Amino acid sequence: ISAAGYQPLFKSFATDAIHVGSEPEQWNSRAVVPPISLSTTFKQHGPGKHAGFEYSRSGNPTRSCLERAVAALDGAQYCLALASGLAATLTITHLFKAGDGILCMNDVYGGTNRYFRKIAAEVGFDVSFADLTKLELLKAALKPNTKMVWIETPTNPTMKVVDIKGCADIVHEHNKDIIVVVDNTFMSAYFQRPLALGADICMHSATKYMNGHSDVVMGLISLNRDDIYERLKFLQNALGAVPSPFDCYMCNRGLKTLHVRMKQHFKNAMAVAQFLEADPRVDKVIFPGLPSHPQHELTKRQCTGCPGMITFYIKGKLEHASTFLSSLKLFALAESLGGYESLAEHPAIMTHASVSENERKELGISDTLIRLSVGLEDEEDIIADLDQALAAAVSISVDLNI
Ligand SMILES: Cc1ncc(COP(=O)(O)O)c(C=O)c1O
Repeated sequence: ISAAGYQPLFKSFATDAIHVGSEPEQWNSRAVVPPISLSTTFKQHGPGKHAGFEYSRSGNPTRSCLERAVAALDGAQYCLALASGLAATLTITHLFKAGDGILCMNDVYGGTNRYFRKIAAEVGFDVSFADLTKLELLKAALKPNTKMVWIETPTNPTMKVVDIKGCADIVHEHNKDIIVVVDNTFMSAYFQRPLALGADICMHSATKYMNGHSDVVMGLISLNRDDIYERLKFLQNALGAVPSPFDCYMCNRGLKTLHVRMKQHFKNAMAVAQFLEADPRVDKVIFPGLPSHPQHELTKRQCTGCPGMITFYIKGKLEHASTFLSSLKLFALAESLGGYESLAEHPAIMTHASVSENERKELGISDTLIRLSVGLEDEEDIIADLDQALAAAVSISVDLNI
């Protein structure tokens, strides 16, 4: 059943997650669970005549099972698995050359920001940033040399929601050859299908929800265009940032429960967001599933629900945020997100430390901003932990004035 007011769930999602790419008939053994194919090389019938695999960097049976499953879940024809989310970003960027323009949403994962600013720009890409939640800014930011528009939605960590269809329409009307990429890490394939909304490429840090068990680092790229796929497939092999067969096995295993996990993440996150929003020790909660979120209506229009990501500003100063974070017992104070376990972190000091102080200020990544990845534990235990940590934060305060 779809969540009230949201996009309808994608048809046969759970069935595809479980069966596509895992057909027992593809193996002589009829293995129901795809084997981990560790061999780096494959025997050829004759020189250049092989049975689909030559060398594990260019193609591997276990990776192929995963790629087929992800393609189905993203509503795509093709998928490529890479060694990390950032390896996926770098491989996509290699579609272009020095001098080409990259326009990026101004609020993105710190590592994406660092890659574009400190590596891509330094080797000659013309990198610029704009607040793509404002479509009128997008139009103005497109340049004659723009080749790629990079969107992340919701953004990490301030949870701004970008209108994917609105952006893709404007960009492609301006120039149909510009490639629109959506980093779909936060929503996962279960809540958002960027390709159906007009994007050319959907990428995931599968390290997060797609794998969902905080035990694999991986990136995924899904797409429909034959020409871009051929070039990316070449780059996957030529750059060589490929994941191991074991990680592919693990991620494919994680995918089998994606639909079950995401539903529960949404339910738990909704309860946490409502609890925090009603709490006087909290200044502001940012969760796209709350009616108070500025793009709540847009979220319902382009997504089937919301993941477990919540950002909030605790009342007080850095000391209150720090005490809150060190007082958590059930939540682990750790980077990353999207696993079955609840995590909390301080973006200004942790995940977004590589973003300049000025930029952080502009984006609202302040000292009191806390990011939660709400896991799959019991709702009441999650809330009780937040409650006691908020109490600990308040107790250090002499000037909190609640
Ligand atoms: C939204 C987003 N995109 C990309 C990445 C990079 O992915 P990885 O850590 O798998 O390289 C992350 C990692 O935190 C992320 O949160």
